[in-house]
Amino acid sequence: MTQLSPVPLTRAAVRWSLGHALPRTLLQRAAKQGDLHGRMFVATQSSDLAALEPILDELRTHRPFYKGKYASVSADNAAVRALLSNAEAGSNFVPADGASRLARLQTWSMQDAPLGPLTPPSLLVTEPPDHTRYRKLVSRVFSVRAVEKLRGRTQQIADDLLEKIDPTSPVDIVSTYCSLLPVTVIAEILGVPEKDRENVLRFGAAAAPSLDLGIAWREFRRVEAALREFDEWLTQHLATLRRHPGDDLLSQLVAAQEGGVGLTDAELKSTAGLVLAAGFETTVNLLGNGIALLAGDHEQRKQLAERDDLWPNAVDEVLRVDPPVLLTGRVTTSDTEVVGVPMPSGSVMVGLLAGANRDPLVFPDPEKFDVARENARDHVSFSAGRHYCLGAALARMEGEVGLRTLFERYPDLRVEPGAVRRSTRILRGYEQLPVTLNPQP
Ligand code: HEM
Repeated sequence: MTQLSPVPLTRAAVRWSLGHALPRTLLQRAAKQGDLHGRMFVATQSSDLAALEPILDELRTHRPFYKGKYASVSADNAAVRALLSNAEAGSNFVPADGASRLARLQTWSMQDAPLGPLTPPSLLVTEPPDHTRYRKLVSRVFSVRAVEKLRGRTQQIADDLLEKIDPTSPVDIVSTYCSLLPVTVIAEILGVPEKDRENVLRFGAAAAPSLDLGIAWREFRRVEAALREFDEWLTQHLATLRRHPGDDLLSQLVAAQEGGVGLTDAELKSTAGLVLAAGFETTVNLLGNGIALLAGDHEQRKQLAERDDLWPNAVDEVLRVDPPVLLTGRVTTSDTEVVGVPMPSGSVMVGLLAGANRDPLVFPDPEKFDVARENARDHVSFSAGRHYCLGAALARMEGEVGLRTLFERYPDLRVEPGAVRRSTRILRGYEQLPVTLNPQP
């Protein structure tokens, strides 16, 4: 890990304290006083997935919002959509021109923060008018058409990965398949040369917890070091792509312009980082969660074997029932209302994507996993409004190819004991999922 001199080290410590340690302490204290938002945070820290369920159920009884000490939390589908689409609610929790001492301290600490998925100019924390210009350029490159062009290659990667696995002995399907499929696709999207792949994958794995809240100091330092290394690598890589563009999506993004204006280097790097993080932290979970759900449900697998046109819908049903992202938050930038509830400027709102996906007002019999559910696509696992996931088409395509290829080839796949969920709090999935692909009768 790079050694920092005293001032940058103090800044890093302040960034960690304000971004992780303080929220963790406050929420833990609130939990002790019975605050449901705090209790939810504590439950997400437990590896016991079931601990969260009763809290989500309780939150759901507070429609449209549960008013907690630090945030208004919603599991109501309509309210979650409305808060994510509200023009007066932004996703950047670090005000650029905050007047309070705390805000000034935060701004000071962010001066030399490495570029990451949650630091500007990441699309995730940029707001209009910058967001509008920048997102338009990026979405042109990640269009549904562009993604469909990657389908054949994704299929080939899935086939090659399965070819390498011994189908008769137990194997961890997360490390051998679910994680390798999206990261290989992403390496191609980013035009990463073969010789650099291992390094880039290492940065990605180390930086992955950057999307989480409340991480420990040592982990925070590891994340920041990996983000800096990735940044250095990207500087070189972008220079190479400018000189010798390839047919990858990042080369197209380098060249993309709107009214003669393209993306800045910081915007390009930030987008590349977000794309990498999404592969490590989200699509891998879609695949793992989907395998666990389908392997445990013979009836649903039978339906898919009889009607393979149901696969795209099955992927949305997996996303609805076990979403890779638990929640997201917004802070109001001026006084506003959300589904009729007044939200003064500075209100923090949390949209529980996993809760809104099981709102009985939208999904009849919400606990049932049903690959033929008519409105499975109405989940909010990809968020809503202007920050709606830019990689949704890519993730759906990878989910479909990844799950269909596996279950068509190994319809009797069996999950073995020893599954371990990941320790990340906001991102949900399996760290390990032992399976036997072709169990002997
Ligand atoms: C199953 C997989 C995925 C899930 C569940 C997912 C989920 C999400 C969610 C919930 C958001 C919005 C967060 C918010 O509103 O605060 C988001 C934004 C985003 N996602 Fe994904 N994502 C996935 C895969 C991907 C992939 C593969 C890419 C790569 C292209 C990607 C790129 C992005 C980008 C660039 C944004 C920011 C969009 C903006 O702020 O305008 N995602 N994603």
